[in-house]
Amino acid sequence: MKTITFMNQLGGTGKTTSAWALGTGLQKKGYKVLLVDLDCHRNLTSRAGLDQKGVADSIYEVFQGKVDVENAIYFLNPGLDILIGSLHLFGAGQEFVQGNKEAMLKEQLEKVQTGYDYCIIDTESRINLLLVSALTASDGVIIPMQDEEYALNVMEDLMKIMDYVTKECNPILKIEGFLMMNFRKVVPQEVLLRTEEIAKQIGTKVFHTIIRSTVRAEELALCDYKNFVEEFLENQKEGGTGQ
Ligand SMILES: Nc1ncnc2c1ncn2[C@@H]1O[C@H](COP(=O)(O)OP(=O)(O)OP(=O)(O)O)[C@@H](O)[C@H]1O
Ligand SMILES: [Mg+2]
Repeated sequence: MKTITFMNQLGGTGKTTSAWALGTGLQKKGYKVLLVDLDCHRNLTSRAGLDQKGVADSIYEVFQGKVDVENAIYFLNPGLDILIGSLHLFGAGQEFVQGNKEAMLKEQLEKVQTGYDYCIIDTESRINLLLVSALTASDGVIIPMQDEEYALNVMEDLMKIMDYVTKECNPILKIEGFLMMNFRKVVPQEVLLRTEEIAKQIGTKVFHTIIRSTVRAEELALCDYKNFVEEFLENQKEGGTGQ
């Protein structure tokens, strides 16, 4: 199982939308996919048509040790499962984990990894233990970025987090690439060029696919995200985090 985390500590950059699109896109290609919602706002859980009402066990209860991870997995479609999020994740997991906290998600995913080709993790925009646990469990990171000047300001912090995790928790972690989200339908070339420059410096890339703005969520799967899934899979063959 290859595990990919979507991260960016700026809110609303397209993490959840892209995690859903990649997860469902890979499933349509015949891969077995496990989605993980590590955001206390549970947007990925909602996107999957589930919310906490009437649904008992989330990844939070798994971390608590109240339920085995195998029993907390929801089957969405053949080849597409999810570990749902919980409002209780607002505590960021600090409250109940003993010992090696950074590995708390990795330890759980290892128990189910033989059942899946890919695990796609959606994270929230706070920098916290949950994010570090996602990165510790992952092979690769995808950073969706709004193509605006201020988006570059957080780059330094992003790299510090990556640096910490690769040194202290997970030496194999790799940035798959930056995914440009062009919500405003104008491509500011200087932001794109600067992002490409940064990507080059740190040995990664900017995906060629740019996710353009659209008003209808269903359209996303049909156009830009379809290209993104293709490009992601090509990337894997060419020495991304591999299959
Ligand atoms: N291509 C697009 N065109 C227009 N709107 C989009 C597009 N992709 C995502 N959005 C919208 O932008 C908003 C932010 O997207 P999303 O929730 O995926 O970001 P996020 O990074 O997960 O946010 P958060 O940090 O709050 O978790 C959502 O309302 C979403 O519907
Ligand atoms: Mg989100």
